[in-house]
Amino acid sequence: MTGRDLLTPDVRAEIDRWVAKYPPFGKRSAVLAALRIVQEKNHGWLSPEALEAVAGYLGLPPVEVEEVASFYSMYERKPVGRHTISVCTNVSCLICGGESILSHIEKRLGIRPGQSTPDGRFYLKPEEECLAACAGAPMMMVDHIYHEHLTPERVDEILDGLP
Ligand code: FES
Repeated sequence: MTGRDLLTPDVRAEIDRWVAKYPPFGKRSAVLAALRIVQEKNHGWLSPEALEAVAGYLGLPPVEVEEVASFYSMYERKPVGRHTISVCTNVSCLICGGESILSHIEKRLGIRPGQSTPDGRFYLKPEEECLAACAGAPMMMVDHIYHEHLTPERVDEILDGLP
């Protein structure tokens, strides 16, 4: 998608709502939200055109936007599957079987972390740090929704329930 395609009136309005939360000189503060909004519009990833569009709209040097997009793990820099799966394998989840949950998903989908399924349905994110739901370990996040106390059967139910 070109920058013009991405910055539709609804996308601009949503970015503007975030910009309005900060002081007038603080457009830079809205860059995280703007990247998230544009990423959603661009089917889950930030192309070079998407980064340029955000930089242009916020009046920031492209390199600054690029730095932010490269730093945070919630931004994708290549096309990814429709549903994003993040499996936590940090300490609490590791102790409670997080690695077997991850290997179950890898086997089921036939992909490794950082890859998408060939049909474009799923994207398994590279291994995540603690997602702050340790009491519900082992856990995963699918399309920003937390699923806790997982078993392989529960994982199958969740994945089967997605379009
Ligand atoms: S260690 Fe998995 S959510 Fe904290």
